[in-house]
Amino acid sequence: MSGDVRLRPLVARTAEDERLVERLLEGCEDYYRRVHGRAPCAHDVDEVFGTPVAGLPAESVRAWIVERRGEAVGLAGLLSGWKRPGQSMIGLLAIDARQRRRGTGRSAVEALEAFARSTPDGRSMRIGIVETNAPAFDFWHALGYRETGERRELEDFTAPVVILEKDLDGA
Ligand SMILES: CC(C)(COP(=O)(O)OP(=O)(O)OC[C@H]1O[C@@H](n2cnc3c(N)ncnc32)[C@H](O)[C@@H]1OP(=O)(O)O)[C@@H](O)C(=O)NCCC(=O)NCCS
Repeated sequence: MSGDVRLRPLVARTAEDERLVERLLEGCEDYYRRVHGRAPCAHDVDEVFGTPVAGLPAESVRAWIVERRGEAVGLAGLLSGWKRPGQSMIGLLAIDARQRRRGTGRSAVEALEAFARSTPDGRSMRIGIVETNAPAFDFWHALGYRETGERRELEDFTAPVVILEKDLDGA
């Protein structure tokens, strides 16, 4: 399966990619309702294209279109050097609801991990799961991510965010 899945960097905000991101977010409406209590909106599109993250240079915030057999099926995002040097954090992983359970999410995470290992921030990877997003826990556990014991109360989410981490044995 891995060979079927590719991450295409989102570098410029073209009108075509903006429409594509909107469509992919609409395909993940279940997720937005679960973690934000609302449908995806223009603010979420802006976030995908790189809202500045306090404490991180712009080049440490990256996003990709997840393609499976050449078809755009999801979105991925990574923060390098978050919360400490040597560590990366997956800020977004969303696969269109009609495309799930085909191994795409797993392959996308493997690609994100490989990317992180190729940078100075590849020792470990983090992910935050909103507690109301119950199915996501099984997914991340299946990929070797474990709870760190940290919980964050963040604005705009329907519940606290639970932090999971995995050693990547990278640089
Ligand atoms: C979580 C998500 C990215 C998983 O993507 P996916 O392509 O469906 O995942 P995969 O097919 O690669 O699943 C890999 C393994 O994870 C586990 N898994 C995935 N989804 C699961 C679910 N809903 N329930 C239980 N286990 C699940 C299974 O072990 C699965 O292996 P299997 O299908 O051989 O049993 C996808 O469901 C999604 O985009 N959800 C909405 C957004 C979201 O919650 N993102 C994560 C934010 S923390």
